[in-house]
Amino acid sequence: MGGCRICGGDLSVFLDLGRQRLSDVFRDPADDSPEFWYHLQVAVCAACRMVQLRDEVPRERMFHGDYPFRTSTSQRMIDHFTRTATRFHEQELTGTDPFVVEIGCNDGTMLATLAARGVRHLGVDPATSAVADARRRGVNAVADYFEQASAERIRKQHGAADLVYAANTICHIPYLDSILAGLDVLLREDGVFVFEDPYLGDVVDLGSFDQIYDEHFYLFSATTVADLAARFGFALVDVERLPVHGGEVRYTLARRGTRPTSPAVAALIAEEARRDLHADQTLANFAEEVARRRTQLVATLTALRAEGNTIAGYGATAKSATVLNYCGIGPELVPVIYDTTPGKQGLLAPGSHIPVRAFPADPADYPDCFLLLAWNHAEEIMAKETAFRAAGGRWVRYVPEVSVS
Ligand code: TYD
Ligand code: ZN
Repeated sequence: MGGCRICGGDLSVFLDLGRQRLSDVFRDPADDSPEFWYHLQVAVCAACRMVQLRDEVPRERMFHGDYPFRTSTSQRMIDHFTRTATRFHEQELTGTDPFVVEIGCNDGTMLATLAARGVRHLGVDPATSAVADARRRGVNAVADYFEQASAERIRKQHGAADLVYAANTICHIPYLDSILAGLDVLLREDGVFVFEDPYLGDVVDLGSFDQIYDEHFYLFSATTVADLAARFGFALVDVERLPVHGGEVRYTLARRGTRPTSPAVAALIAEEARRDLHADQTLANFAEEVARRRTQLVATLTALRAEGNTIAGYGATAKSATVLNYCGIGPELVPVIYDTTPGKQGLLAPGSHIPVRAFPADPADYPDCFLLLAWNHAEEIMAKETAFRAAGGRWVRYVPEVSVS
């Protein structure tokens, strides 16, 4: 088959999630133009073992002016990024007049903390409406794709960066050669590149197949990121598992030989080897579990409806597009999805065409059951929705297994 985006090695598809719509393109009910679709197949490279999508969606279709996702819709993520910024300020941005760049800054949730502390910074994000939100909170940001050419422009204008950071962004970018070349241009000699993304190990453990969608082009692991870094003169010098977004790893890359390597790197790579994380059999077992999950989820929702329960989706996440479309769940099973994001309300969820609305103001209008589509924010949501449970409401989940409780 050929075509690994990292090394050119042969790809083999281990999971086919079918025809899918773009996960963040919510549709006006009056719009009857044909919807763009792509084939969502997940493959592993025979040579470097990087897990990646088989097909690439052009970036302008996904990340454009109207990109609706906003980081600040989750209080827990705001807290996470505030802590992250504080740590950067104390540990990495300690020299004279340090400079930090964030790739995929979205609404500036992370950079706002550094801006308030007077740290020189720049956010880069192609989503112009998100960049406008960032600017409104006092963050310097430009609407652009980060790549080698834009990195060169930033370097010329602002000088070298002590730190480049990206959260939930690098796994979105197929052309990592250009990203790493850009980092080589932009980073100070002993600067670091820190990024965090969903972790293949957690996806396999949880069966969280909805981490796979158009925007999540790669599913990283310590093994494959170390290999990737080495190809471009960098080294993976630290890893940290993060309990956000359903399980992520924060990777720190530095130019080879400029930083000591934390023992955590070898430890995580050894754990991945011990559990055969990248083995064809492990990935085939994961694919089987995904098919089982679909059967169970559809049966569960169908039974709940047959018993006369009302059901609504909780959170019009990008990842829910994969679940709803792969499982064939539409408005007949889940008539509405509630979401706090203004840019999604009043529109239809991609492919499933389930209407997205603001949460009912009156809890009496809540459904009998919520399908927890924003399961990665479960803790925050459960803390907020205690009254729903107390009134007899039930949660339908599909990660880490199908359950109703
Ligand atoms: P998220 O899971 O963060 O990302 P992705 O879209 O990449 O899968 O999206 C969370 C969505 O859930 C977002 O549209 C906001 C919404 N949401 C709520 O409606 N209520 C909440 O309490 C939380 C935490 C999120
Ligand atoms: Zn490869």
